[in-house]
Amino acid sequence: MSKILYLCSEAFPLIKTGGLADVAGGLTRALQNNGQDVRLLLPAYREILDKLHRPRQVAETFHYGQHIRILETCLPGTRVKTWLLDCPSAFDRAGNPYLDAAGDPWPDNAFRFALFAQAAVDIALDRCTLAWQPDVVHCNDWQSALVPALLATFAQRPATVFTIHNLAYQGRFSKNTFFDLGLPVELWGKHGVEFYDQFCFIKGGLVYADRINTVSPTYAAEILQARLGYGFDGLLRHRRERLSGILNGIDTDIWNPASDKHLVQNYNQHSLDLKTKNKTALQQQLKLPVSSRTPLVGMISRLVEQKGMHSLLGAMPKLLSLPLQIVLIGSGEKQYENALLDWSRSYPGKLSVSIGYDEQLSHRLEAAADIYLMPSTFEPCGLNQLYSLAYGALPLARKVGGLADTVIDCDEKTITDKTANGFIIAADTASALVKTMQRALRSYKDPVRWQQLQLNAMRPDRSWQTSAQHYIKLYQLAMTDNSEER
Ligand code: ADP
Ligand code: GLC
Repeated sequence: MSKILYLCSEAFPLIKTGGLADVAGGLTRALQNNGQDVRLLLPAYREILDKLHRPRQVAETFHYGQHIRILETCLPGTRVKTWLLDCPSAFDRAGNPYLDAAGDPWPDNAFRFALFAQAAVDIALDRCTLAWQPDVVHCNDWQSALVPALLATFAQRPATVFTIHNLAYQGRFSKNTFFDLGLPVELWGKHGVEFYDQFCFIKGGLVYADRINTVSPTYAAEILQARLGYGFDGLLRHRRERLSGILNGIDTDIWNPASDKHLVQNYNQHSLDLKTKNKTALQQQLKLPVSSRTPLVGMISRLVEQKGMHSLLGAMPKLLSLPLQIVLIGSGEKQYENALLDWSRSYPGKLSVSIGYDEQLSHRLEAAADIYLMPSTFEPCGLNQLYSLAYGALPLARKVGGLADTVIDCDEKTITDKTANGFIIAADTASALVKTMQRALRSYKDPVRWQQLQLNAMRPDRSWQTSAQHYIKLYQLAMTDNSEER
């Protein structure tokens, strides 16, 4: 058994903006079920504190003139011990963990996540009376990437693992910010957290972590190339011996059509015909024409370029001329929200667009959909295609990142060997998207074939169990690297 301190800026069900939260919730629980002593550390955002009944203070620390209380709770629905860093000036505010009401990054994000990192280091070094020292500190994305860098300045320290969920988000700030935050000067420089004269949080993880991983094997290879390496491909190639890809799993207590509490009708592989009841209920709920034979296409997404908004919007006129219905739930950049709403006003019986974040609707849509649309330009892993596969909604996806590792295109060979589970969009263009949709609709017309594809999709075990085992091995490797470097 190892002691793991898992650092993350979001975790379901306490706070979620995307897949990162699902991973933090699902993986920590799976690690615990596999005998690891895991503690989760999160900022105590207002949204979290509002959900909890007075969590108990167990320790305190001080940084940047702030008194930081460490509160203890359990991740709801689990036994995962969760510590919350309570510092009102940094985290007690309304809204999104990273963005202000206008959708811009909070102006003090560098301070907020440097404070998070400093307090995490105190816990990692057992300097704040918790009487618990981790063997491994597992950091995720730029918000906790400073931790491996700070820990590297200590001779005796736990091992560190850094997971890249999305290299496009890097936490870049001015050089002055680095010095204003009083960070150790030896961390500055191109072999440290400097990136072309800027202060770059994510480099803390990329340069200093004992082990680095990403959330799918294909993305681990893609970031070694210039297109998706964002200027870090050289550094990552240099550290490639330390880099691996571990595919995300799904939390089958939460995303399971047989037991999902949000659904109008539960179903499984042996009662697939019941899935239609979810479709009828959703069509009624969203005021779409009720028709079990019209293919329903779902999409649940952050509305940002990464998710293929450009090709989707370009494809809209032709998509909406096809015999289908599209239901989209999402939020993000205003230009995409407005464009989608405009299309839905022009095609009210064919396209339903819900702007905002709606957990229940997202479950209902996975259960109702026949086809799931994921035309991402890049996708480190992607969870919605995994949920869709589990719910028998066949993904229409680009062959990138985790989508390439999980969606198997329907062709003669894969139909015969019963591995086909979706439809690959050959290029990042509107016309390729439309062509693939037409191909999917042709398959949909053959109910026997379609049902076989659904069964192929639903059969594999996609739970966290296998991935948790991979992480446990990665922790061992990180501990070995750390002890050999001394
Ligand atoms: P990413 O993390 O890049 O946004 P993922 O596919 O890994 O993409 O995970 C997205 C997660 O966020 C899924 O659980 C998805 O259901 C959820 N999600 C995204 N947008 C919404 C929304 N508007 N309402 C509800 N859930 C959403
Ligand atoms: C990021 C990626 C997404 C991945 C998620 C969880 O948000 O964009 O592909 O599934 O992290 O790892």
